[in-house]
Amino acid sequence: MSNAVKTIGVLTSGGDAPGMNAAIRAVVRTAISCGLNVKGIRHGFAGLLEEDIFDMDNLSVSNIIQLGGTILYTARCLEFKKKEYQEKGAEICRKHGIDGLVVIGGDGSFNGASKLASLGINTVGVPGTIDLDIACTEYTIGFDTAINTAMEAIDKLRDTSESHERCSIIEVMGRTAGHIALWTGIASGAEYILTTEKYHGSIQRIISKILDRRKIGKKNHVIVNAEGIGNSTEMAKLIELATGIETRATILGHIQRGGNPTCKDRVYASALGTKAVELLCEGKTNRVVGYKDGEFIDFDIQEALSMSKDLDPYLFHITQKLTTR
Ligand code: ADP
Ligand code: F6P
Repeated sequence: MSNAVKTIGVLTSGGDAPGMNAAIRAVVRTAISCGLNVKGIRHGFAGLLEEDIFDMDNLSVSNIIQLGGTILYTARCLEFKKKEYQEKGAEICRKHGIDGLVVIGGDGSFNGASKLASLGINTVGVPGTIDLDIACTEYTIGFDTAINTAMEAIDKLRDTSESHERCSIIEVMGRTAGHIALWTGIASGAEYILTTEKYHGSIQRIISKILDRRKIGKKNHVIVNAEGIGNSTEMAKLIELATGIETRATILGHIQRGGNPTCKDRVYASALGTKAVELLCEGKTNRVVGYKDGEFIDFDIQEALSMSKDLDPYLFHITQKLTTR
């Protein structure tokens, strides 16, 4: 490995995701093992602009692999979309000797990373978002933990729903993407899985199916609804009014973003953090790392951002067999 860079900076940006700490640890430890210096940047691009930058060593990332959240804190920084602030960010990197930057975040953060790359800072993005909505990769840091958290919550809601013979609508996160809804809906045996990508506003159809299922002896009804569709409370009222079955809406919210990362999130985040530093050491820039077809891979950021992603077609197909339509 040739040392194309001397000092690696690392930041987390956008929504936090369990496993980000494992990625930070991997970045720091891999860089140090390659003889590089490491600087942590707190609060994403906002912290970069404020020069909230500190030296990191192996001890800085000791005892964090199991922790949710991000020890570097995170932020959304709208001004970084403007060229003058991107130029300021690149200048601050140069001032602190940061010639390689690892940006852990989602598509928005990769846009910021790409802008810094175009201004001469070697930059690699690591996909960190619970939403799984990054097209170039089958894996994003935090998704696995988030779906397990949501699945456990839905299991608990089903217990009380059964005791009261109710209908439960559970709204899960994902912004405009339905991956969390699809996975948690299948895993919790939901009767209905409403994803942003496939929903056509057919509440009437759901109502008549609930009535049919009730007639044949079903005691509870679990509907998983994607955040992108929303309106869960309104839907619950409509269902209750039309069916006479008590219906409760639960919006799981930010609980899905917290908690100790799963084994998968710790291991894959570690691999992606290491790969990001290895690419920088090879003199690569404007790349994003990911996991596809059984391999850890990397793409040009612009190419990655131009890709699109749909729900997994086979998983969607099985919902047609396993849930009641
Ligand atoms: P995510 O990275 O999870 O997609 P956001 O879309 O909120 O989250 O983006 C995170 C941050 O990335 C933004 O607050 C901003 O600082 C930066 N960012 C987003 N879009 C751009 C852009 N077009 N150019 C430069 N920076 C951007
Ligand atoms: O992108 C992660 C995510 O949790 C989305 O699922 C959700 O729409 C959004 O962030 C919530 O953002 P905030 O933490 O700013 O409320």
